[in-house]
Amino acid sequence: LLTAGASHGLDLALKHLTQPGDTILLEDPTYFLALDIVRDYDVRVVPVPVDEHGLDVEALERSLREHQPRLLYTIPIWHNPTGATLPVARRRRLIELARAYDIIIVADEVYQMLGDADHTPPPLSTFGRDRVLSLGSFSKILAPGLRLGWIECSDRYMAKLARDGVLVSGGAMNTLVTAIAQSALELGIQDQYLETMRELYARRRRCMVRQLKASLSDGIHITEPHGGFFVWLELPEDVEVDALIADARDAGLLLKSGARFSPDSRPKSRTANGLRLCFACHSETRIREGCERLSQVLRRHVRG
Ligand SMILES: Cc1ncc(COP(=O)(O)O)c(C=O)c1O
Repeated sequence: LLTAGASHGLDLALKHLTQPGDTILLEDPTYFLALDIVRDYDVRVVPVPVDEHGLDVEALERSLREHQPRLLYTIPIWHNPTGATLPVARRRRLIELARAYDIIIVADEVYQMLGDADHTPPPLSTFGRDRVLSLGSFSKILAPGLRLGWIECSDRYMAKLARDGVLVSGGAMNTLVTAIAQSALELGIQDQYLETMRELYARRRRCMVRQLKASLSDGIHITEPHGGFFVWLELPEDVEVDALIADARDAGLLLKSGARFSPDSRPKSRTANGLRLCFACHSETRIREGCERLSQVLRRHVRG
């Protein structure tokens, strides 16, 4: 099903596959704008923790038992914001649990094609197509302004989604853009562009990780992703993240605090002491400069 981007895909899933009052599970942390989409619906949100290997499937089982949710929204590949990827064993377990507790999994896989091939597990639906709606997007592989994405799912869910009034009325969300993307695919432009961007992002990612590892003080944990757009830093508990972000702004750095990514509104969650760094849109020179400035700011806020 073609959508106006992965955001629209999530919106469609919530609109047609949940009922008011349902409980849905969100990772903590999760894509911050997904929180805004979920807020448009009358659903109860329960956060589920993630670790450096993605969704914590044991914590998930406890939540499934306790809350009887309808749907889980998860980012199993090069997570935004943590950069984590769910390993194959956890993927299998997740599908088993989805079947046992009868839930729908909305898998946001917009970064599936943007990682090193030997570190990229197959999409989640490979392990259980009956349970998974996979969200994809041209935003990450061609251009975000196109507003074009897709949902891949089984007929059972497709039948419900394809009845969407706006889609039926227009025939599709974005017909002209769809034709442009189709040409880009047929002419091989998409493949060439994707290859170029994968190499570029990998260079930027390695540059950022190398630079951070060389300059950050002890006590700061950094993820080392093999794909996606983000590196996640976890700061010691006693760091005042808001003061740090204000200080960073004075040094010309725009940082987004972990709290913005958390469905858990309680202050001082572990997520709130995270920082998301994005390497996708900066040259290696700017990344090096940015990391240098960041390490100076961190030195003032983190006791070694
Ligand atoms: C995990 C994730 N999902 C969805 C989106 C948005 O995708 P789209 O532009 O297709 O709505 C983003 C963009 O940052 C993202 O990181």
